[in-house]
Amino acid sequence: MDRIRVRGGRRLKGTIPISGAKNAALPLMAACLLTEESLRFTNVPGLADVMYMAEILSQLGVSVTRRMDVPVGQGGTMELKARGRPQSLATYDTVRKMRASFLVLGPLLARVREATVSLPGGCAIGARPVDLHLKGLEAMGAEIELAGGYVLARAPDGLKGAEFAFPSVSVGATENLMMAATLANGRTTLVNAAREPEIVDLGNCLSAMGANVSGLGTSTIVIEGVKELHGAVHRVLPDRIETGTYAIAAAIAGGEVELSGTELDLIGALVPLLRKSGTEIDATPNGIRVSRGTGRPRAADVRTEPFPGFPTDLQAQYMALMVVADGTSVIQENIFENRFMHVPELLRMGADISVHGDTATVRGREKLKGAPVMATDLRASVSLILAGLAAEGETIVNRVYHLDRGFERIEAKLGACGADIERLTT
Ligand code: EPZ
Repeated sequence: MDRIRVRGGRRLKGTIPISGAKNAALPLMAACLLTEESLRFTNVPGLADVMYMAEILSQLGVSVTRRMDVPVGQGGTMELKARGRPQSLATYDTVRKMRASFLVLGPLLARVREATVSLPGGCAIGARPVDLHLKGLEAMGAEIELAGGYVLARAPDGLKGAEFAFPSVSVGATENLMMAATLANGRTTLVNAAREPEIVDLGNCLSAMGANVSGLGTSTIVIEGVKELHGAVHRVLPDRIETGTYAIAAAIAGGEVELSGTELDLIGALVPLLRKSGTEIDATPNGIRVSRGTGRPRAADVRTEPFPGFPTDLQAQYMALMVVADGTSVIQENIFENRFMHVPELLRMGADISVHGDTATVRGREKLKGAPVMATDLRASVSLILAGLAAEGETIVNRVYHLDRGFERIEAKLGACGADIERLTT
């Protein structure tokens, strides 16, 4: 199984191309089920999760053509065509491996009027229920039954537009309901909807397919159902979590890095924290420039929140920065109940962190020491690589397949900027 070896202490200098966003690509791909015409994407990231979503869609009868063998950071292309009547069964094995495959439920129900999709179950970062997806679809007239670990959903006369107020913000439920609403009869109003850039990207793609969507980027999204959707070409949004991760890498290692093909607005909640830490970060014509001189970064507190707040998907990486910062910081995780798996591993590298419930107190240390580490979640794994950039000696990150789910060729991107990082394949 592949591992990544990092030897710390090198400053970074160079350009890192930012890939298309995993969490935009996955729902966008599910949207192909809404039309029998072809949906073509550019800037598709070469990630294990994207390949897996393509496999699931092909099991449902979608024809998939892709060109992913492009130089790092250039972005692949993928064409998806769900001609005829797609299969309407997504099995336990499929959904268990990747929760985002639950996003086929809304589009299948809208187009085929029935779907049988396995409940995803819990995962490393928490219980992660899907009740909001189901309640929203029921509000649109779907008949939903749970049996044998499966959701059996039917809407024999088609879905009907409805008003649905989310009791709490959910990215995935907003996406499932948006896709379902495009082909429903009448108007759907989603109140307290998620505002993440990936939601806006999905909405823009649905609009390009002929859907009638308004309110994107606000907490009220209105969708007027149409009879059918058509094909479109869409460029996947840049990955804001990858952007934030490499910005933090530069803040941890020091040096100067340009992140190309991305935008400062995508990481709005991280920017003031990096500036507080003593890192310079500004927009450039190509993306973002991040630089930090010598001396330790300064500590600052953070709490995770739905967008536009600080993203849970950057919490572990930010903690890696705070671990070497000058001062004590308090990091509160408000989205998932079990998202501190990186803490015990960071402790093995010499970090000083205590966790009480959803709050971690991080007392910054001047030095970390490299160690063999591993994590069971993608963002936790990458935080260990970031800590390794600052640690003395060698850090070996095991279970690299977690990283490959969400970070395209991380060793090539960091290595090109002078980091001493290598993938070990034996
Ligand atoms: C998306 O997950 C992302 N995944 C996650 O990315 C991200 O951490 C998360 O949003 C929050 O930003 C994709 O986009 C594919 P939610 P999602 O529904 O949609 C609770 C990564 O590392 N909830 O917004 O599953 C839920 O348990 C990851 O790339 C319910 O209670 O997240 C959580 O506490 C992992 N009932 C909170 O809401 C529901 O029906 C937010 O979850 C749905 C969610």
